[in-house]
Amino acid sequence: MRVLVTGAQGQVGYELLQRVPDGFAVFGYGSQDLDISNADQVRAVFKAVKPELVINAAAYTAVDKAESDAERAYAVNSDGVGLLAAAAENLGIPLLHISTDYVFSGDGDKPYTPEDVTHPTGVYGLSKLAGEKQLSEQCSRHLVLRTSWVFGAHGNNFVKTMLRLGSDRDTLSIVADQHGGPTSAGSIAETLWALASVFRRDGRLGWGVYHYSGAPACSWYDFAKEIFTQAADLGLLEKSPNVNAITTAEYPTPAKRPMWSVLDCEKLVDAHGLVPKNWVQELQTVLRQLGERQSV
Ligand SMILES: NC(=O)c1ccc[n+]([C@@H]2O[C@H](COP(=O)([O-])OP(=O)(O)OC[C@H]3O[C@@H](n4cnc5c(N)ncnc54)[C@H](OP(=O)(O)O)[C@@H]3O)[C@@H](O)[C@H]2O)c1
Repeated sequence: MRVLVTGAQGQVGYELLQRVPDGFAVFGYGSQDLDISNADQVRAVFKAVKPELVINAAAYTAVDKAESDAERAYAVNSDGVGLLAAAAENLGIPLLHISTDYVFSGDGDKPYTPEDVTHPTGVYGLSKLAGEKQLSEQCSRHLVLRTSWVFGAHGNNFVKTMLRLGSDRDTLSIVADQHGGPTSAGSIAETLWALASVFRRDGRLGWGVYHYSGAPACSWYDFAKEIFTQAADLGLLEKSPNVNAITTAEYPTPAKRPMWSVLDCEKLVDAHGLVPKNWVQELQTVLRQLGERQSV
């Protein structure tokens, strides 16, 4: 099966290309070779690749920058998704797409199900939700996988920021009143390939919106503490810095973050037996990969 992967150099795109299962021929395009917001480029790539399935890992992910760059965020996260959706529909093929916990307000206190009411609080979340709408309106066979707090050995993320800050400073202050599920890019890629494999085998899939994130839920403070403990154990840091727990109010950012980002992933477990991975173990794998790179 011929699969077009967009955003191939991002965290998830990279991991998708690292784990291609047997039976798939993958055509990965980074942003330089395929700008999903450019209709001519989308048309040309679909014509050249002739995909039988598309996985969209491309997105404008600069959450704070989006607040002052809404036009570009919408061009990529909404209109770009619309172009891919229309091109996929034109070929009669499905599109697997990734979305975010930021489609929710964060006011909840129990895990959000895919059916819960959306209410983004910033431009990034609004643009991603607009992309979900474009997809559902323009591509009949579509699947949206909403995820959260993505980390991996490739690309920019919280884990790498903590390692950098942890090697420079003795004490750090980390937000402790926002909760979510850290999710490894590798586990998202595996989940997407598992879904693609079901489609390849059966010629169909339960279309619609699903949630997939790492477990158990924690705060950024908990996540940082675990990063430092594991990194010190593995010798990636000389010692763990002291970590102070602070509130969101003490760490203002241009974009408002959801306080409660926890996703209920049961729908994916029930439909396909795809169980959330433990982020503590996934973190160990990622830190080991980073350690191997350092020692090369
Ligand atoms: N990162 C998170 O914590 C997080 C949380 C929840 C959901 N998600 C979602 O998960 C998905 C994957 O995110 P990620 O963490 O892998 O993000 P990422 O590392 O920022 O990767 C996104 C990729 O998309 C590319 N891109 C940007 N604009 C593009 C365009 N117009 N056309 C084609 N490619 C373009 C970027 O290329 P350039 O670098 O060249 O611009 C980048 O390689 C996204 O849908 C994101 O919204 C992410």
